[in-house]
Amino acid sequence: MLLDRYIDDDDLARELRADVRAGLTADPRWMPPKWFYDARGSELFEEITRLPEYYPTRTERSLLDRHAAEIARITDAKTLVELGSGSSEKTRLLLDALVARGTLGAFVPLDVSGSALAAAVESLTVAYPGLGIRGVIGDMTRHLRHLPEGDGRLVAFLGGTVGNLVPTERAAFLSSLRSVLHEGEWLLLGADLVKDPAVLVPAYDDAAGVTAEFNRNVLHVINRELAADFDPAAFRHVALWDPDNEWIEMRLRSTREQVVHVAGLDLDVPFAAGEEMRTEISAKFRRAGLTAELAAAGFTTRHWWTDPNDWFGLTLAQAG
Ligand code: SAH
Ligand code: AVI
Repeated sequence: MLLDRYIDDDDLARELRADVRAGLTADPRWMPPKWFYDARGSELFEEITRLPEYYPTRTERSLLDRHAAEIARITDAKTLVELGSGSSEKTRLLLDALVARGTLGAFVPLDVSGSALAAAVESLTVAYPGLGIRGVIGDMTRHLRHLPEGDGRLVAFLGGTVGNLVPTERAAFLSSLRSVLHEGEWLLLGADLVKDPAVLVPAYDDAAGVTAEFNRNVLHVINRELAADFDPAAFRHVALWDPDNEWIEMRLRSTREQVVHVAGLDLDVPFAAGEEMRTEISAKFRRAGLTAELAAAGFTTRHWWTDPNDWFGLTLAQAG
């Protein structure tokens, strides 16, 4: 199986140490969401995508189903790159359309989660024997310059993962993506849209408790990798809508006063009862704001597709 690594286990360990030290000693405490996605976290995310409350995946899939042939016709892509690819399940709709169009030669999924990427590359290699498929284990905020060279590239960034970057990170990410693309190359961006909190909040606080388990998974990761003694049962899952920032914020709330020891960092982290740690933002977008952000990074929006409820947006933008 073809897998390239731009980060090895030592790099990951170093980054996790730095993030845990910075995040757990900050006020308020925080952790970057990329640490959710060990093998278990990636499985939990796939479970989330099948929950009745979690509308983004099925809505984006319906958009891809409806517009993939048009996207293939417009872009005539020779290489499809996918960032934060996970299982690449929905991406098959794009691959099918691009293969049918006859232009596509290569697919390059990039993800920080080696286990999710390996499983995806294995099954896609069987499903698309004529394609050159090369998975890249990397961090999309740092390793874009390593992406395969060439013309006729289409970069897909699906699922609404762009909303998991904080605004400054998002602007830097979009600019650095633009800087590695040639004029005329394409970005297909899936973004979740602002909507009634009565729809949004349950999507991040489902009745079966899968999102709560996904949220607490970051504590299991820190326990395993840094010999910490978090008791995940002593942290409550919190999902709230922030109307000023127009994002969902996931937090873990300490149910009691406690001190967590992170042996790998020789660090004691005191939590007051009710103290919260931010684990993810999931920003929701409006068409005008997203178009402006893309323009600021050097992308021209050429097409915008949404579903009948206006719940999820697919943007096809061109570099230059
Ligand atoms: N694109 C898929 C998966 C979304 S889940 C979908 O639409 O369903 C988010 C994915 O992004 C996970 O697989 C996670 O491992 C990956 N990810 C999160 N932060 C990342 C980063 N900084 N660099 C690369 N991948 C990242
Ligand atoms: C990957 N990302 C777009 C998901 C989201 O909706 O922000 C992650 C997630 N967090 C909780 N549920 C799903």
